[in-house]
Amino acid sequence: MQHLDENGKARPAPPCVMVIFGAGGDLTRRKLIPSLYHLMREGLLPDEFAVVGVDRLEISDEDFRARFEQTLREYRATEFEDAVWQRLAERLHYSQGDFKDPQAYRQLQQRMAHCAEVHRAPGNYLFYMATPPSLFSEIIRLLAEAELTLEQDKGWRRVIIEKPFGKDLDSAIALNRQLHQYLTESQIFRIDHYLGKETVQNIMAFRFANGFTEPTWNHQFIEHVQITVAESVGVEHRGTYYEEAGALRDMIPNHLLVLLGFVAMEPPNSFDAYAVRDEVNKVMRAVQPLSPEDVLTHAVRGQYAEGVMPNGEKVPAYRGSPGVDPQSRTETYAAIRFMIDNWRWADVPFYLRTGKRLGGQYSEIVIQYRHVPFRLFRDTPVEQVHANQLVIRVQPDEGIQLSFSAKIPGPTMRLGTVNMDFCYNDYFGNAPTTGYETLIYDAMNGDATLFKHADTVEAGWELVAPVLDVWSALPPRDFPNYRAGSWGPAAAGELLRRDGYRWRHIL
Ligand code: BG6
Repeated sequence: MQHLDENGKARPAPPCVMVIFGAGGDLTRRKLIPSLYHLMREGLLPDEFAVVGVDRLEISDEDFRARFEQTLREYRATEFEDAVWQRLAERLHYSQGDFKDPQAYRQLQQRMAHCAEVHRAPGNYLFYMATPPSLFSEIIRLLAEAELTLEQDKGWRRVIIEKPFGKDLDSAIALNRQLHQYLTESQIFRIDHYLGKETVQNIMAFRFANGFTEPTWNHQFIEHVQITVAESVGVEHRGTYYEEAGALRDMIPNHLLVLLGFVAMEPPNSFDAYAVRDEVNKVMRAVQPLSPEDVLTHAVRGQYAEGVMPNGEKVPAYRGSPGVDPQSRTETYAAIRFMIDNWRWADVPFYLRTGKRLGGQYSEIVIQYRHVPFRLFRDTPVEQVHANQLVIRVQPDEGIQLSFSAKIPGPTMRLGTVNMDFCYNDYFGNAPTTGYETLIYDAMNGDATLFKHADTVEAGWELVAPVLDVWSALPPRDFPNYRAGSWGPAAAGELLRRDGYRWRHIL
């Protein structure tokens, strides 16, 4: 996080060559090249920088560049600046090859050496795995056999991989073991793109840079916490992947637990990667594992039927999506109640929910404060004093809102609920971002604070393992059980109602 020059401004990343496996794919086009463009525009890439894209297509460097120019020109969030694009384009190169063919790596080695020389960026290589996860281990093995992962002469070699990191605890442990055969943990940068979101990083700033937050951030003041990642989109063209994954695997051990980790962690003693990740790991270890009986009452699954979205669009059921089994038992909605077994969070439930085709596209965290004693108001017209609620809006409309009681003007004591509302946009504008800029820049700087450690990945799978086991042993009998465009299955409401609470209604 701290790569500053003497004027306190972020300085360009160190010289390096970035090698992208899967350069012909969607991630490269939609996220990686636009992020490099934004970094270039902000002056955060060094002159001594080059990209080598690797994929199977037979295309020239010129064709490779032309594809991205078109995307960037169409990409509305960015104002296209010719000069910035030219500076980036002349650093983009392409190396054709089959990821499984050792010959491709010999050719790549030559390409890398050539680019390093032309662009004066010798020694430092950042490999980005923008490929299906089934290829990660194979590519890394072949890179290692070609001695491309060996750090020597002060040059660094780093590898970025994307989720999913396995599909359950065993496969995640196996993947980590395979990676550690060829790389040290400090060479591995595991991306969970939620860690790249400004609002998620802001949770630490909000909690630890303000005097009023931390003293009340515990079981004495907070009654419960809700973490929602709701999506109005369906599974689109990813039916085949999603059939195997489902909402739980796709979102909870990774994105939702990232949010829980930042909300619940203890203050780290610095922004150093080990300090921050240790605190996150500590809180993950404190989350109480669910017993099989708990799963029956504390976890809820759902699958959407056809329905009408809030914009009036009629959408088909999950079972009617391309690549999906017409009898599919895959869940498109999951909610879990977790308890954290430490002093700070004793008896404070954390409710997590996520789903596809819900009534809105929102990610938010609700901190529900406890009620104040009512006694003072017993002889007034006030019938009830609402407890404070703090809402951290992760996306869209990023911001933080605090609702509190205020006196309604007039001769008697009457209360109304009002809001203090901070919107990112009002203060800091709306800079175009893909959410990957900080992550790529940090990886170039060797800063792993916003990347997942092997332990965090395994801890996430460990927490959902009992749910995966019980759900696969007891196939659902009521699917589909919520309408597209609604807020999920009825049982999810019951999960909170049993404790005397309700989900915040998101409009
Ligand atoms: C991905 C999941 O990791 O995150 C997708 O595989 C999901 O299913 C996406 O749609 C959500 O990310 P965001 O940034 O749109 O909230």
